[in-house]
Amino acid sequence: MSQNGLFLVFEGGDGSGKSSQRDILVERLKARGLDVVPTREPGGTPFAEEIRDLLLRGSMDKMHPKTGLGLFAAARAEHLETLVYPHLAAGRIVISDRFVDSTFAYQGSGEGCSMETIAALHRELCDDAQADLTILLDGPVRTLLERALGRIADTGSLEDRFESADIAFHERKAQCYRDRAAAAPERYLVVDALQSIEAIADQIEAAVLRLIENRRIAAA
Ligand code: TYD
Repeated sequence: MSQNGLFLVFEGGDGSGKSSQRDILVERLKARGLDVVPTREPGGTPFAEEIRDLLLRGSMDKMHPKTGLGLFAAARAEHLETLVYPHLAAGRIVISDRFVDSTFAYQGSGEGCSMETIAALHRELCDDAQADLTILLDGPVRTLLERALGRIADTGSLEDRFESADIAFHERKAQCYRDRAAAAPERYLVVDALQSIEAIADQIEAAVLRLIENRRIAAA
């Protein structure tokens, strides 16, 4: 996306292991002396985190899907303008847990919001920004959901509204991610989420190192 820096995004459904893999990649790149900025959506900046609180503290059940759509787009614009762009301009590697594909998958395919509206909002508010590489952790939805439910039972965070949605909703989201990756294979790395944590991490690291080499991004 940027002449300088590198914008990497992790996407995937519940139980895909996406957030853990983002953390592993951040640590591995830092160990190589690279200047890495971990972040997430919705959120990443103080104001975008306030929007996140509104969206995820059970409030989404009370709002129309279009309202959620607007809030996700607003949080993303704030995140891009005040965090992502400045760090990329400084030549850093920004690694986000989720980005606009989450909106296409969750609000679009999942909740039935118009894909055209999502694309238009992204164009108007977010400069049609795209990640240099989106790492999609994909696998059989039912198996991954069972994994996620196990994790919830362990941590007790049952109030997460998204995790209680039905299987069909998750299937639609997963298909949306796959379709988007298939439409632009040069910008996606689709990884089998059922492999071991180590095997997934190695695959992601190798792809990212190749990209870093191509862009000639040096250690800080
Ligand atoms: P989070 O607790 O970070 O969940 P996860 O570990 O699955 O990433 O909450 C983020 C939730 O917000 C997640 O359920 C997906 C949802 N979301 C959307 O619905 N649309 C979006 O555009 C984004 C960025 C996230």
